[in-house]
Amino acid sequence: MTESGTKQAPVQEIIAELKDKPGALLPILHGIQDALGYIPAETVPDIAKALNLSRAEVHGVISFYHYFRDTPPGKQTVYLCLAESCQAMGGKHLEMHVKHRLGIGFHETTADGNFSLEPVYCLGNCACSPAMQIGKDIYGRVSTDSFDSVINDMEKSA
Ligand code: FES
Repeated sequence: MTESGTKQAPVQEIIAELKDKPGALLPILHGIQDALGYIPAETVPDIAKALNLSRAEVHGVISFYHYFRDTPPGKQTVYLCLAESCQAMGGKHLEMHVKHRLGIGFHETTADGNFSLEPVYCLGNCACSPAMQIGKDIYGRVSTDSFDSVINDMEKSA
């Protein structure tokens, strides 16, 4: 099976299952992103056709919601907390460092495909601000040094 064929199989199932439900576009987009990690451009014509929308309308919704990705995510996603408690504990400084260290902004992926960076608004770890999550692990009292150390370890094991 071709790579695009591999992608298309779950996409076609998701579209067929949800297309007749009211407000089907968002559930379809969520379903595809849950299945593939992002919404490949080549799926947009099929989504548009199934819902009787234009491709531009589907693109518009994908780009409106930052949650949706149109490129594959990195092997690891760094979720950096931007909410109040973390901001009060040096979150802005940490954010600048994280962007500089990874060489990307929010909603972007490093050139080597290892890391994506996403903002979150409270990880429920306010007592240990500033906080971040990578995979299932939540890190507290993150400093520029401890961030570098986590990323360096992950790069070594990648
Ligand atoms: S504000 Fe960052 S974990 Fe709650």
